[in-house]
Amino acid sequence: MSSAMSSVALARTAGAGTPVAGASGPATAASAADPLDVERIRADFPILSRQINGRPLVYLDSAASAQCPTVVLQAVDRYRTALHANVHRGVHSLSQWATEAYEGARERVRRFLNARSTREIIFVRGTTEAINLVANSYGRGHLASGDEVLITQLEHHANIVPWQLVCAATGARLRAAPVLDNGELDLAGFEALLTPRTRLVAVAHVSNALGTILPVARLVQLAHARGIPVLLDGAQAVPHAAVDVQALDCDFYAFSGHKLYGPTGIGVLYGRESLLAAMPPWQGGGDMILSVSIEHTTFNELPWKFEAGTPDISGAIGLAAALDYVDSLGMKRIAAHEHTLLELATARLSALPGLRLIGTAADKAAVLSFTMDGIHPHDIGTILDSEGIAIRTGHHCAMPVMQRFGLPATARASFALYNRADEVERLAAGLVKVREVFG
Ligand code: ALA
Repeated sequence: MSSAMSSVALARTAGAGTPVAGASGPATAASAADPLDVERIRADFPILSRQINGRPLVYLDSAASAQCPTVVLQAVDRYRTALHANVHRGVHSLSQWATEAYEGARERVRRFLNARSTREIIFVRGTTEAINLVANSYGRGHLASGDEVLITQLEHHANIVPWQLVCAATGARLRAAPVLDNGELDLAGFEALLTPRTRLVAVAHVSNALGTILPVARLVQLAHARGIPVLLDGAQAVPHAAVDVQALDCDFYAFSGHKLYGPTGIGVLYGRESLLAAMPPWQGGGDMILSVSIEHTTFNELPWKFEAGTPDISGAIGLAAALDYVDSLGMKRIAAHEHTLLELATARLSALPGLRLIGTAADKAAVLSFTMDGIHPHDIGTILDSEGIAIRTGHHCAMPVMQRFGLPATARASFALYNRADEVERLAAGLVKVREVFG
């Protein structure tokens, strides 16, 4: 299969002179030390200039889903308009171009994660499907009664429920490492739960509910020292920092496109080739086979063995454009910008009477979870919405960590590369208004 980058494939097939997603880069071309030019970046995101409830939108819900820059929207549109056909199935030109663009997107993801081979990159619907794939394929093949799967108390439901299901099916037991009062993982507690019965560790790289960045390289070392493979849920990590699966030495890494400025409905499972090669397919259907008779099927090679049915071709192409976009801005610059916003927001919100930050780990992504005395988080979210400010409220699909802190819900502001300091001030002013309304 072609190893050409998606943008290269699109450039060739879309015709000379056609602007190519991500190839021209975003509005800035600065060195790694320069701050992001956020004003110019915001021009890449048309939705950010919307008014909501008569006020300029302040979008602080990127941890739930980030907005797409124009280059991503154009890449998807260009593919759908001029190049679409099914992949891996046709001798005609459109099918071959679509295949080249789709497989080019896979190579783009490989480079983004620094995986060794495109055989290790499986396209899925998102992080949830990636984890379900591992739970059903690897988990059912390796778990038996008395075995244990180790997660943590701060996992998203997507990294809890698939393990509960496979444990119920196999007789294995799900254990959860404890979380400290500041939202950090209790490392000693984690280590104590690594036992001769542990068959797999599955942990978040970054907590969606608290923002905690987990010491995942250390967790992998601890698990590997005992011969235990590790899955990392990278949904909240990939938008904020460069991820190198070889440096992390993890066995599986899952992420979603839509939290990384790409489309919804597309995500990635990275898997160590030796593990994937030995795993049975999870879903059966077209494209994951080499030959089928009524009696028997021979499965396709990696990675297609795990991609049954027509994939989300335009989603993969949009994701590749999103990776071009963030890489051309520079992950270090994005992280530095978001860290500045996090520090400012932490200072502003901490100063508000009756506001309690939930999750104050030393190492955090730009996610602020909080409560306000006597005010339900949904009421906070509703008043802020009337001011044009979008945050998430609720349990954040992480009910066990809410229970850990004795809370039904929090309000959560999450920051992205396109947010500005003045939006932190709008948030703080909005919260003062919330207090005025509720007394
Ligand atoms: N997992 C997403 C969030 O944290 C939906 O909001």
